[in-house]
Amino acid sequence: MARPVLIAPSILSADFSKLGAEIEAIEAAGADWIHVDVMDGHFVPNITIGPAVVKALRPHGKKPFDVHLMVAPVDPYIEIFAQSGADGLTVHPESGPHVHRTLQQIRKLGKKAGVVLNPGTPIEALDNLMDLVDLILIMSVNPGFGGQSFIESQLDKIAAARKRIDATGRDIALEVDGGITPETAKRAIAAGANVLVAGTAVFQGGPSCYADNIKALRG
Ligand code: DX5
Ligand code: ZN
Repeated sequence: MARPVLIAPSILSADFSKLGAEIEAIEAAGADWIHVDVMDGHFVPNITIGPAVVKALRPHGKKPFDVHLMVAPVDPYIEIFAQSGADGLTVHPESGPHVHRTLQQIRKLGKKAGVVLNPGTPIEALDNLMDLVDLILIMSVNPGFGGQSFIESQLDKIAAARKRIDATGRDIALEVDGGITPETAKRAIAAGANVLVAGTAVFQGGPSCYADNIKALRG
């Protein structure tokens, strides 16, 4: 049974001088989720936005805010992002000492709990977490920047994650993030992904291109 493919534009590639308007534009263009890349300049070599910006953006979007926390230590910030309007909070196992407890906290706050694997993080990092997660995010680039190329080796990990998800019988989203274009989207979907994050591929050409750019990713 074919899974519907959701598109989660990453606002990292949006015009940061008008993020509210950009969120309205990509929702009007067909975005299913809004992927919010939070970077602290410590876990990744880049700094983007914090909870105050997420809070300011919340009224501009009706779709779920899929917040990707590239922050370490991440535990002190879970609550404030949950209060600021995040619908899903996705964490890297490397961003704190107790990822199982972090995911428990996210669920206790009533939010969707996600775990994200870097290209260098083995699939075994999912062991013991499958009953806690609503989402598994496979990074197909090393986190920190948009506009990088898709790392082919992650296709096997996507397929392995799909197998693990299907074995649980639970409704866990399988999201892929980084270097997604109409070409790599097809391969990520074929490997088992059902949510695609795209920054460059969605925002290129400006607002008049967003709807076609999103359509081109759905295949
Ligand atoms: C990178 C971010 C990705 C990135 C995707 O650290 O997690 O979401 O914004 O950007 P593109 O689609 O341009 O690779
Ligand atoms: Zn991301």
